[in-house]
Amino acid sequence: MSKPKIFVTRSLPLPAEEIVNQNFDAEFSREPSGISRLELLDHVAGKDALICQLTENVNQELLDAAPNLKIASTVSVGYDNIDVPACTRREVVVTNTPGVLDDTTADFAFTLMLAVARRVVEGDHFVRSGQWAGWNIDQFIGADVWGKTLGILGFGRIGKEVARRAHGFKMRVLYNNTKRADAAAEKEFHAEFVDLDMLFRESDFISIHTPLSRSTRHLVSKIHFAQMKPSAFLINTSRGPVVDEGALNDALEKQIIAGAGLDVYEHEPKVHPGLIGRHNVVLAPHLGSATAETRTKMAVMAAMNASALFQGKLPPNALNPEAFKK
Ligand code: DGY
Repeated sequence: MSKPKIFVTRSLPLPAEEIVNQNFDAEFSREPSGISRLELLDHVAGKDALICQLTENVNQELLDAAPNLKIASTVSVGYDNIDVPACTRREVVVTNTPGVLDDTTADFAFTLMLAVARRVVEGDHFVRSGQWAGWNIDQFIGADVWGKTLGILGFGRIGKEVARRAHGFKMRVLYNNTKRADAAAEKEFHAEFVDLDMLFRESDFISIHTPLSRSTRHLVSKIHFAQMKPSAFLINTSRGPVVDEGALNDALEKQIIAGAGLDVYEHEPKVHPGLIGRHNVVLAPHLGSATAETRTKMAVMAAMNASALFQGKLPPNALNPEAFKK
């Protein structure tokens, strides 16, 4: 029996490619800089399955170009790149990769927090450029992270892992989430539920961990920056459009807040030009889950999600199980 046909938009870590090749007649795009939209539409025609990334839009246009498509499996936990209702209407199952990147992404939120507060990137440039003339009592004075108040916006799996780490840093942890966590979780993570106003007013660091949706687009905007302490930092490892980047740039320009650590941007890969030259902003190229271990787990999970469907099973991470037809 012939195998189902799959298109994979990037090379994957070897264990994931092995799963794909065992279960599919596979075509991979090996373009290191990514595939163009036109090529993607061309390659999905006639395919039964797609493994994609968060940079590829799975929308009505793509569904129209891929009439045989039965599953779109994204190698990411966020799935704002996928029009899930449109997929459901077409009975295309959508899957993502939850759970395997929580610790790694939480580590990266702390990486940015520490990097911006302790001015490590500025210090690195200083040493490399040969300007360092020796220890000096007032050189690159930063802000402590330990013992401060951390406000976590979005208290899902990743937000909770950030809270767990914060406890080790002796921080007070506040959080806001659409749904309050139960008492056991608040106790486990030493976290206190507060409203958004209090989160922004009281926190020394705000770390964003909410998915992007219609209701979270520009959730962090001018009014919130105005509420923040002038000594506070904003950290974003979630999705860029959750923050109004222009308003963030203004808040930094006017010294309304002290700095930012950003891994994600409103119009990736473009970054607001105002942010580029700022010494008090650390900019990373969407690296939250970027470790060999975690990216391998994510890719394996995406490959297994796609394979399950053609073994007659509901993929373990189906976001629209109603689209599954045996
Ligand atoms: C995701 O998975 O959604 C991240 O943004 C990339 O790891």
